[in-house]
Amino acid sequence: MTDQTSTEHRPVLVVDFGAQYAQLIARRVREAGVYSELVPHTITAAEVEAKRPLGIVLSGGPSSVYEEGAPAFDDSVFDLGIPVLGICYGFQVMARALGGTVGNTGDREYGATGATLVGGGGAILGGQPEAQNVWMSHGDAVQQAPEGFEVYARTAVTPVAAFGSAEKKLYGVQWHPEVKHSDHGQRVLENFLHHVAGIPADWTAGNVIAEQIERIREQVGDARVISALSGGVDSAVSTALVHEAIGDQLTAVFVDHGLLRKGEREQVERDYVASTGVKLITVDAADIFLGHLAGVTDPEEKRKIIGREFIRAFEQVQLDLVAEAKASGEKVKFLVQGTLYPDVVESGGGAGTANIKSHHNVGGLPEDLDFELIEPLRALFKDEVRAIGRELGIPEAIVGRQPFPGPGLGIRIVGEVTRERLDVLREADAIAREELTAAGLDQTIWQCPVVLLADVRSVGVQGDGRTYGHPIVLRPVSSEDAMTADWTRVPYEVLAKISNRITNQVPEVNRVVLDVTSKPPGTIEWE
Ligand code: XMP
Repeated sequence: MTDQTSTEHRPVLVVDFGAQYAQLIARRVREAGVYSELVPHTITAAEVEAKRPLGIVLSGGPSSVYEEGAPAFDDSVFDLGIPVLGICYGFQVMARALGGTVGNTGDREYGATGATLVGGGGAILGGQPEAQNVWMSHGDAVQQAPEGFEVYARTAVTPVAAFGSAEKKLYGVQWHPEVKHSDHGQRVLENFLHHVAGIPADWTAGNVIAEQIERIREQVGDARVISALSGGVDSAVSTALVHEAIGDQLTAVFVDHGLLRKGEREQVERDYVASTGVKLITVDAADIFLGHLAGVTDPEEKRKIIGREFIRAFEQVQLDLVAEAKASGEKVKFLVQGTLYPDVVESGGGAGTANIKSHHNVGGLPEDLDFELIEPLRALFKDEVRAIGRELGIPEAIVGRQPFPGPGLGIRIVGEVTRERLDVLREADAIAREELTAAGLDQTIWQCPVVLLADVRSVGVQGDGRTYGHPIVLRPVSSEDAMTADWTRVPYEVLAKISNRITNQVPEVNRVVLDVTSKPPGTIEWE
């Protein structure tokens, strides 16, 4: 399979020096309409040249350039004639490599810092306010710019906070332009990309779609393709993209395991199909799943059963499709996967691994189904995937959807999963979602699991009668990436409305409680 991370767009390389900022820089470059790729700092000048980049951004890093074992960089990259922007540690790497001096002044700068432009600010800072707030995080500082370089900014303790050479197209800033706390950060990146490096802002959803369509057609030819739809954003967009390219050569498969939220199946079967025209097979597997889940209370066991049964259901459809295709002399050769760029980066991969057997997203498929993968989102970040989905006309309810775990409501019932309990949770969850959306909180909240404590009962009173019902837990969290999270401060009146409606409209529930635990120590899900 060809390497799907490199597209027709020549990249801007973002060199990762081990800071948490490199991915963010890559995203900001994309926001400026320019295709970016992350590369490790161990990349050699020859490897850089082979990628034919239009520009290079050196990221920040945790080390001091003088520290033993500090992330090294092949200095001859600066001689390639490719425009470079150094940021923070990358700025110091650049200064040192080009003959400037870097030292420890003893004055650390951390957080919001006032910077003053010098000499008009040059090509990267020109036109910006002379005094601005920038986000700093450094101990060392550049004390002297390399010969032939002009200084463009300073702070109270850092005499050289930005420099550059118009002739060499090499620039650097000590601060972090990629974080929102830097007043004009995005403009620094845009000035570098568009004005210094002369790169047009043509990395747009429309262009990405056009390129991917061409690529998919080339890869697939006249073979048939299968895609598993989960109702989530990534599979919805990758499937729609492939459908746009090859139409009815694609069959999408949606497994209804009975653990879906209210309206989800309809969303896929009706709205998604109506907007994309995708040929869809729904597998009704609720009875099978619930049968296997009967009596099971351990979360990990639930996950295992759901995962296993999902694969079984999907497998059966594939075997049917393959048999059908073989009968008519066609080949089913490809499987669509919604792998995103952060997954590719995190698994240390560049080029795609061609064989499904090495992939765990879908899991162990039978030996005789030797699929090749189509991963049209491999080069994209989540926000780009959403933009493409919108461009393809996928309903907002799917494209803007918050994360939802594969095992579905099965891991949001603490206790045994039964059909009745699922019905209760589905109603409560639908009410909470409706009210949070109505309150305009969908952007503030990363996701809000609604959990049924099925094995807990408490006494309540309703009308004249005593009740003995179950509690529902609301778990609204704010997060960047689900690795850490904080509980969202949802306004009291919104919580009151949700609580009122759930206890009035769902008879089995007589108490609504709020989870006010951050992650860590609590996970986002309860199971
Ligand atoms: P936790 O609960 O570990 O969740 O803080 C982090 C993120 O992962 C989601 N999650 C899952 N997703 N299968 C999935 O596909 C799972 O078994 C699973 N468990 C948790 C969770 O919703 C959150 O976004």
